[in-house]
Amino acid sequence: MAFGFQLSYTKLMKPEDYSGAEAFQVEKRSMFAAEWLPLCAEGQLARTGDFVSASVGGWSVFGVRDGEGAVRILRNACRHQNMPVVNTPSGHCESFRCRFHGWTYDLQGRFLSAPPPVAPKDPGSPDLHLASLATTLTAGMAFFTIGSPAAAPDLGQPFPVYGGTLTTEIACNWKVCVEHLLAEHVPSPDFAWHWPLLTVRRAGALAIVEQVVPHTFLRTRLFTHVFGGAADDHQQAAATIKHVCECLQADRAAGALAADDGALIADFHRRLAEVYVHGAATG
Ligand code: FES
Repeated sequence: MAFGFQLSYTKLMKPEDYSGAEAFQVEKRSMFAAEWLPLCAEGQLARTGDFVSASVGGWSVFGVRDGEGAVRILRNACRHQNMPVVNTPSGHCESFRCRFHGWTYDLQGRFLSAPPPVAPKDPGSPDLHLASLATTLTAGMAFFTIGSPAAAPDLGQPFPVYGGTLTTEIACNWKVCVEHLLAEHVPSPDFAWHWPLLTVRRAGALAIVEQVVPHTFLRTRLFTHVFGGAADDHQQAAATIKHVCECLQADRAAGALAADDGALIADFHRRLAEVYVHGAATG
């Protein structure tokens, strides 16, 4: 989206945009609905029946390795009464059973059965299958989109062999986490940012992908995917990110916005400003 004037991040953003639900709804509608969003590393779905679920920018989805070896990303909303079918962040199963009234689905999200009292009139209707989302795999990462973005994500050179993923739950707004990951960085062969939710750091045979999952407006999950090394070696670094981000969240609550501390963070703020202008125009 192009604008004919210089957008000022600091004039558009308010401290409450880091701690309130309203801004998150603007971001969900104007940004997360339009972009390719990472869900997980393909290595987290190594075996048939492995699944990962998350609410990414307000969109509740899960990814699963189906019986044909494909990765599918589906809306996590039962076709009976729209409740979540998958209720754990990750796991392994042979089919999915909604815990509310017992509708079941296969690994491709196709409706299988339901108890007689809640059975649909036409069990063969394709409308009973879970909604399948556009999915793409690139460089060992699985992405989905709600919308129709122009270009598929490009993470550059293939990553080395997948070594594992650390999951860190952080009590902060997702923008705080991105700002921390980008601060003081400039684009280089060793560090890349992929709008809006991924950074990639390469060091010799190692690649570390930090994936920010905006769970709610004050809860962020950070996946640290390690390629070419062991994930456990990065536990201390992940704990430090959590500590710093939770301190920075307190700063935002006290009214201190982040400075444009480096080229990448300035670009992040510029693009956020566009999202907020667009959200205000269409809201
Ligand atoms: S909402 Fe899933 S079976 Fe009723």
